[in-house]
Amino acid sequence: MDLRDHPEKDQQEHPDTQGGYRAPGQRQMARRGGGDQAVLLEGLQGQGVQDIPLADDGLAGPDSTDPGRDGLPSLAAGGLRRLQIQETVGMGLLSGVLSVTVTLAGFVILGALFDVTTPLHLLELARPTHPLLHQLMLRAPGTYHHTLMVANLAEQAALRIGADPLLARVGALYHDIGKMVRPDLFVENQIDGDNPHEQMDPRASAQAIMRHVEDGLALARRHRLPRRVRAFIQEHHGTLCVAIPYHRALQEAEDPSQVERAAFCYKGPRPQSKETAIVMLADGCEAAVRAARPKDPQELERILDRVFQDRIQSGQLDEAPLTMRDLQEIRAAFLQVFQGMFHPRLAYPEIPRP
Ligand SMILES: [Fe+2]
Repeated sequence: MDLRDHPEKDQQEHPDTQGGYRAPGQRQMARRGGGDQAVLLEGLQGQGVQDIPLADDGLAGPDSTDPGRDGLPSLAAGGLRRLQIQETVGMGLLSGVLSVTVTLAGFVILGALFDVTTPLHLLELARPTHPLLHQLMLRAPGTYHHTLMVANLAEQAALRIGADPLLARVGALYHDIGKMVRPDLFVENQIDGDNPHEQMDPRASAQAIMRHVEDGLALARRHRLPRRVRAFIQEHHGTLCVAIPYHRALQEAEDPSQVERAAFCYKGPRPQSKETAIVMLADGCEAAVRAARPKDPQELERILDRVFQDRIQSGQLDEAPLTMRDLQEIRAAFLQVFQGMFHPRLAYPEIPRP
């Protein structure tokens, strides 16, 4: 039932707060329209335009376009519609911006409070301009390039076995950040050939190398890296021994049985997740391949097999949730990445200058 046809009933149900009687169009506006619309309508009525009929949406109705009138009602309809559209668009935009802001803030605050590693945080850590990665590139360029290669290997292997490729990549990027504290102790950064280990006792040499794990963890805490990323720093060497100083100690000792093996080995823990196990394997393979510089794919495969066998037989993968099938897939992924690295190139002929 249209209330405009029954002003008495409408007066009973919707009494004018000022005690007066409203025109039908005004009552409709009071029920449905906003403040701006009412002001505009009252303005028009003040100019002598009375009894403006309204459509169901509360705006001026079809009669407002009546060419017999002075044209102001059609202006009123256009103005009201514009106001409504602007109000709707404005509220929509505000609501969208607020939703995104609250969601992002929630991710950051909850992630920091409960040490939860969100994909958003991992993406932020993966950017090359992150202060820690930037410092690693400047202070330890050899380690930085080793890190990029390990990250590529780890990401591809994680994809193959259904592990988290982003976590594996980010963990690989940060696994050796501790080396930037004393980059000259690591062969990949000894560009001028100076090796400080030649002047060091084998035991001190091993301790200095192993120190990069504790230095890395301290840097990671200072830069608020999440727990799951810090795990890569702690687990990527497991309980492996530092081979060169240990062998030197055995050779130099009068009684090799007196050499304390534990003094040359990392404290662990061994890899606890698929991703940290992948980075342990990628780290070992990258170092071995770079040192051996294989001349053909068969030699490359032999190097990878040696590293895999060493990690399996020394028990480093015993606590990682990997199957033998996973290990085969990881090896295949590594082979594919290394083959891309050692792709053939033609030697460019020297072009005589004119
Ligand atoms: Fe390392």
